[in-house]
Amino acid sequence: MSKTHQDLIHSTDVLVIGSGAAGLSVALRLAHKGKVTVLSKAEVTEGSTFYAQGGIAAVLDESDSIDSHVEDTLIAGAGLCHEDAVRFTVEHSREAIEWLIERGVAFSKEDEHYHLTREGGHSKRRIIHSDDATGKAVSTTLVAAVQAEPNINILENYIAVDLITGDKLGLPDKRCHGAYVLNLKEDRVETIQARFVVLATGGASKVYLYTSNPDVASGDGIAMAWRAGCSVANLEFNQFHPTCLYHPQARSFLITEALRGEGAILRRPNGERFMPEYDERAELAPRDVVARTIDHEVKKYGFECVYLDIAHKEPEFIKSHFPTIHKRCLEFGIDITMDPIPVVPAAHYTCGGVRVDTNSRTDIEGLYAVGEVAFTGLHGANRMASNSLLECLVYAQSAAQDIEDSWDNTNIPAKLPPWDESQVTDSDEEIVLTHNWHELRQLMWDYVGIVRTDKRLQRALRRIELLQQEIHEYYSNFKVSNDLIELRNLVLVAELIVKCAMQRKESRGLHSTLDYPQLADKAVDSVLTPTDS
Ligand code: FAD
Ligand code: SIN
Repeated sequence: MSKTHQDLIHSTDVLVIGSGAAGLSVALRLAHKGKVTVLSKAEVTEGSTFYAQGGIAAVLDESDSIDSHVEDTLIAGAGLCHEDAVRFTVEHSREAIEWLIERGVAFSKEDEHYHLTREGGHSKRRIIHSDDATGKAVSTTLVAAVQAEPNINILENYIAVDLITGDKLGLPDKRCHGAYVLNLKEDRVETIQARFVVLATGGASKVYLYTSNPDVASGDGIAMAWRAGCSVANLEFNQFHPTCLYHPQARSFLITEALRGEGAILRRPNGERFMPEYDERAELAPRDVVARTIDHEVKKYGFECVYLDIAHKEPEFIKSHFPTIHKRCLEFGIDITMDPIPVVPAAHYTCGGVRVDTNSRTDIEGLYAVGEVAFTGLHGANRMASNSLLECLVYAQSAAQDIEDSWDNTNIPAKLPPWDESQVTDSDEEIVLTHNWHELRQLMWDYVGIVRTDKRLQRALRRIELLQQEIHEYYSNFKVSNDLIELRNLVLVAELIVKCAMQRKESRGLHSTLDYPQLADKAVDSVLTPTDS
C-alpha cells in the first residue's frame, strides 16, 4: 500500500541527528521533558564514539588541577583556543565523568581506584579509560540507557538530507523547524517536524583518503548547517593521528596514543629512536608535532612507515592495558609484546566546525550543534588527546539545559511541505558517485594534507569546484541516495576546508604551509559565513 503524505511526517519535540556520545547524551538529558527522536544513519552504535580507544581527559586526581588541564590544552592549541571555552569544559569535566559512571560506564580500575593514563600534551595522568576500548564502553552503556527510555525513539538507517528553516519556507522567522530525512530501508524521504534540532553528526575526516574514522564521518552536519545559513570556523585544522596501523588489510586501525603515554617509542625501520631529535617532549609531544615529524621522516628517507615499539614492557602489562590492540595486531601477524608496530599518520579529527556558543547554540534559532560537528573554541589549532569525548559530554549538558530553559517559549512546529521529488528520476550512472568520491579524497590527501602550499590549495580548489558542478547536476536530476547525500556533503566540506586554509597566512598547530612557515603576530579564527560567499 502506498504511503500518504501524512504517513511520511513525524512530529517530535527534539530531533537529535546522530547517535554518538554527543547525540545520546543530549537525548538522555532531555527525555524527562518530552518526545526525543534520535536519528542514526547506520546502526545506532556506528560512529567515532564506538571506536574511541585512549579515554576521556578530566581533572580527577588530587595532584591535578583545573589550571593545569587548561594550560596543557592552551599549549596544545597553539594560541588559538578560546580560553573561556577551555575553562568551561575543564571545570565541568569531573561532573561529566560522574554522570557516565552513574549511567554504568565501567572505567578501568587499579587497586580499587580508577586508573588514569597519559597521552601527548598532558602534563599529568588524567585520562580515565576502559582498557583500550573506552568508546565501546561509553557507546554501549548510553545506547542501553536510551533504549530503556520510553520518551526516546531511535530511528536507525535514517540519514538526514537537509534542515528545514523558516526562511526556506517563506516564513517570517529563520528558525529551524526540522529536517528532511531519507529512510534508507524504505528508500523514501520523510519529514520530521521538531521544536528543537540538535546536530550531533560527528566529524568529516572521511574527506581524506586515509582516516581512522568510520564511514559515517562524512561531514553531513557541517554541510547541512552551512546550507541552512550557519557560519563555520577553523576547518583547516584537521587533525592527523600519528599512529594508525600500516597494513594493507588494516583499514587505518588506530594505535592509541596511550601506548606512547605508557612508554612506547617511535623508531625508524633500522630501530633508531627519532622523536628526541625533533622535540624535547619526544613521543609525548602534542599530536600535530608527532604526526608532522613522522610525515617528514617518511618523505625524507622514503620509508613506507615508521615503527611504534612497546615490547620493552612486560607482556602481562601490555596485554592487560591494551587487549584490543594486542588482539587486533595478532590478526595481522604482529605480536606487540615482541614486535614493533608499523604505523603511519591518518586523518582523525575535525577541530573546526559549526560555530556555537557555550550553550551549543548555532547562528539559527532552535538549531544546536554538539560534539565533533561543532566549533566551540576548545581545541584551537590542535586538539589535545582525549579532550573530544569530554567536549561531547559537557556541551551536551549545556545544550540540554538551554533547550529546557527555552521549552515553554517555543511554538509547536509549523506545517511543513513534503519533500518534492517531481523533477527527479532514478539514477542511471552510479559510477559518477564512485569516481568522484575517490577523486575527492585522493586530492584532499595529496594537496590539503599534513603540509600545504598556496599552489596545492589552489589546485585543490579548482578540482573541487569541478567536482561540485558535476555532483550538483547529479543531485538536481536524480533521486537522493546515501552515497549521493554523503558525497554532496563531503565536497562542500572540502571546499570549506580549503577556503579556511587559504585564509590562514601562517603555520600554526595542524595547519603547516611551506609558504608561511612562521606564526602570525595575532591568533585569529578562520570564519566563513554563507552570506559572504
Ligand atoms: P560520532 O560518535 O561520530 O557520531 C556521529 C553520529 O552521527 C553517528 O551516529 C552517525 O550515524 C550520525 N550521523 C552522521 N551524519 C548523519 C546524517 N546525515 N543523518 C543521520 N545521522 C547521521 N576522542 C577522545 O576524546 N578520546 C579517545 O580516546 C578517542 N579515540 C578515538 C579513536 C578513534 C578510532 C576515533 C575515530 C576517534 C577517537 N576520538 C577520541 C575522537 C572521538 O571519538 C570523537 O570525536 C567523538 O566520539 C565524536 O562523537 P560525536 O557524538 O560527535 O560523533
Ligand atoms: C587515542 O586513543 O590515541 C585517540 C585519543 C583521541 O583521539 O583523543
